[in-house]
Amino acid sequence: MARTFRLAVAALLVAVVCAVDRNNFKSCQQSSFCRRHRAVKPGESPYVILENTLSVTEEGVSVDLLNERTRVYFTLELYPLKDATLRLKINEKNPIRQRFEEPYALVGGTLAEGFELVDRSADGFTLRFGSSRVVVRSKPFQAEVYNGNDLVISLNPRGLLKFEHYRTKPQGEVHPEGEEDANVVPPPGDVEDDTDGLWEESFKGHSDSKPHGPSSVGLDVSFVNSHHVYGIPEHADSFSLKETTSTDPYRLYNLDVFEYELDNPMALYGSVPMMISHTSRQTSAIFWHNAAETWIDIKKLPDSNVVSSITGFFSGGESDPPQVSTHWFSESGIIDLFVMLGPRPLDVFRQYGALTGFNNLPPLFSLGYHQCRWNYNDEEDVRQVNENFDTHDIPMDVMWLDIEHTDGKRYFTWDQHKFPHPLEMTANLTARGRKLVTIVDPHIKRDQNYFFYKENHDRDLFVHTKDGTEFDGWCWPGSSSYLDLTNPEARNHYSDTYMLDRYKGSNLDTFTWNDMNEPSVFNGPEVTMQKDNLHPGLSVEHREIHNVYGLLFHQSTYEGHLRRSENRLRPFILTRSFYSGSQRSASVWTGDNTADWGHLRITEPMLLSLSVTGITHVGADVGGFFGNPDTLLLSRWYQAGAFQPFFRAHAHLDTKRREPWLFDSETLSIIRNSIRQRYQYLPLWYTLFYENELTGAPPLRPLWVAFPEDEGGFGVDNEHLIGSSLLVRPVTEEGATSASVYFPPGVWYDVLDLTLHQGPATRTVSAPREKIPVYQRGGSIVPKKERVRRASSLMRNDPYTLVVAPDANGNAQGSLYIDDEHTFQYRQGQFLYLGMWFEGSVLTVKKVDPRGKYHTGSWLERVIVLGRTKRPSKVTLTSSAHGTQTLESHFEPASGGRVSRLTIRKPGVTMNEDFTITIQ
Ligand code: GLC
Repeated sequence: MARTFRLAVAALLVAVVCAVDRNNFKSCQQSSFCRRHRAVKPGESPYVILENTLSVTEEGVSVDLLNERTRVYFTLELYPLKDATLRLKINEKNPIRQRFEEPYALVGGTLAEGFELVDRSADGFTLRFGSSRVVVRSKPFQAEVYNGNDLVISLNPRGLLKFEHYRTKPQGEVHPEGEEDANVVPPPGDVEDDTDGLWEESFKGHSDSKPHGPSSVGLDVSFVNSHHVYGIPEHADSFSLKETTSTDPYRLYNLDVFEYELDNPMALYGSVPMMISHTSRQTSAIFWHNAAETWIDIKKLPDSNVVSSITGFFSGGESDPPQVSTHWFSESGIIDLFVMLGPRPLDVFRQYGALTGFNNLPPLFSLGYHQCRWNYNDEEDVRQVNENFDTHDIPMDVMWLDIEHTDGKRYFTWDQHKFPHPLEMTANLTARGRKLVTIVDPHIKRDQNYFFYKENHDRDLFVHTKDGTEFDGWCWPGSSSYLDLTNPEARNHYSDTYMLDRYKGSNLDTFTWNDMNEPSVFNGPEVTMQKDNLHPGLSVEHREIHNVYGLLFHQSTYEGHLRRSENRLRPFILTRSFYSGSQRSASVWTGDNTADWGHLRITEPMLLSLSVTGITHVGADVGGFFGNPDTLLLSRWYQAGAFQPFFRAHAHLDTKRREPWLFDSETLSIIRNSIRQRYQYLPLWYTLFYENELTGAPPLRPLWVAFPEDEGGFGVDNEHLIGSSLLVRPVTEEGATSASVYFPPGVWYDVLDLTLHQGPATRTVSAPREKIPVYQRGGSIVPKKERVRRASSLMRNDPYTLVVAPDANGNAQGSLYIDDEHTFQYRQGQFLYLGMWFEGSVLTVKKVDPRGKYHTGSWLERVIVLGRTKRPSKVTLTSSAHGTQTLESHFEPASGGRVSRLTIRKPGVTMNEDFTITIQ
């Protein structure tokens, strides 16, 4: 049935289901505001500051900005914020209708920093705040932001600022597409050679009525002395962003792109308009706070001559530094820009987190392995898969049910024939320590007999068309309506539907997958919703909030999970669409990738881009969603996934079954070992996610986070660090049995064969089929749990192993976080946060946060110290409860390229005690 229906959809919507078709998605040429912003000529900015209008409040300053060509007035506001952050806003001074300001992404950005206004003159003024300052020039308007004496970011240096004020539509006949706009006379001086699409625009038979006319905003931002910028997910492209001088700009417009292409700037499912520049001296970032369709051009200006001749940057020319010039433009809204001055990577993560929030500590199970496919067919299928993981000794934490588990794609319901006893099915999973995830999408089947449709319809909680009728779009269930998530009542009602008495068949072990929330509309323009649709909740067009629709959906799911447990249990939600701030409530996966080597390769840069822009619990479909991976690709993909933050296998309905035991014994054993390795390192991941909540630092990191001065790492995007202690180089080349690894400065211990590598250096290492190159950094202590269990919840009281990898001076350090792994009690002090130091010959482990009072049943099973030159004569443990006692140890000397390994056996001390271990 489902298959027949799908084929029918396929026939209707060739565009959606045939191989990738770029023609379904707009190029810049086909987007009128993109064309208009790209056409702005550098060096001719008409915007000037009217310095005599400057007014000062406790929070910041505000001043008029005039477009000398159109004579339209704007207001420029500058707010110095705590922690080296600056907010700049530009809005119309007297708009004929209020401009939209995105209300959902920010959770901070209001902590004012004291400032001083200096050097005020007709030419401009300077604000000093903290150790930073912003120098504003009047004619044309420019702002230069300094950290100390270093110029870091320059705003409008090329003069590309363009703010389209709201205007009245010129009267006249309605002409057919293409001719109409030729009759529109732009306001005097608002030079629009290209008037096509100002008041109406068509794309592939879809007309966007644009009742309010042109309203786009744009500005150029230069990162001074920079060569590399990163961020602005989601694109299937390199981590260090490319110049767009001969391509389209990078596009941020949340879209359901079928079989997406690699290595290009096309838009994908989610958007984070945040970009980071990193140099050996300075890390800085900007957040372009706007949820409308956005494009970003990037141009690298390496030397002063080029700079001067092309752009007239700064005044002199000869002293112009190299820079990355970026040009941002959005279809609507205001200019609301945050500048974060670092100066180090970890500072930027904290500064951005203060604005949009941090990833909440996920429940531990969600860091385990997830088994998904479209679809597990029925309860018997689920039972067998569940059991087979045990039969084959493979840990697994979560089974997933895709859309076919529902009654005809009516979310919150169950197919009565295939899933008649969902609670029993779930109990069978939880009996083995596992969980269930079910899918809930935002398109609601238009069926008066479907409770959730009827309730929302009767209360008018759906999105409207431009004419005010309930919008009807096509998605998995066929004809569907879409929740108006700008309406608090719609959000509230949706959240309440997770209450266990409303979502029948669910319980507190049922978690949620939010998909298709771009939103995907199969028969809409670019497979999404019409921009002139209306959201009655906020009385805005869809155009204004498009990129934040997905966030509203998963954030309401999160709220629902909180409610059903009375705020006791941590939610887990996976989302496909996202925006800045999504990290507060969801994990993200990279959507419908393909089972080929290119897609495996691109996961690294894609996950790095998400991680540095705050979205940190991220992964890609292991094995590839479309197509059938061969055993080589599948096993390499498991190896990579095991060392990425969110680890889930998933596959399309039409693919062959690919549970691990369906393959030959070699493949099965590689998959088993990869998953087991994942579980061994769970204490490390969990600690990093705790630290992520505290500081914003992502668990998966590019090399430059730990090695900010090592330029060799700035362009690397086929490797990542886990925290600052493991270096991972997934093998993504077909048939490769070796890999070229870039080792950052320091010493690196191969975690499997204990060979030592000295960085900085690029080395070719052996990587036979069963091996993923992973190295522990010299100077780190990594906590592990080495006993194999069915699921992470069964490991809660298991003992720890600490692996000490000393640096060249013989020292190392690390941290370990412990709590109950699934409730919010840790916020009431039910946690333990331990620091670990190894200096010379003494390992010290002690609480670093005295507020932590959790009592763990876990104890220390062993300590492994790598690279010691001689066998110890004695090893002793000292703790408050145990006094001092001698420990057993085993020393394997260095040989054949391996470093030595000292194993200290059964210290037995519980992790509740502070202790030291001394090696003599
Ligand atoms: C979308 C999702 C995919 C899911 C499918 C059916 O294509 O990206 O993961 O399996 O919808 O729900």
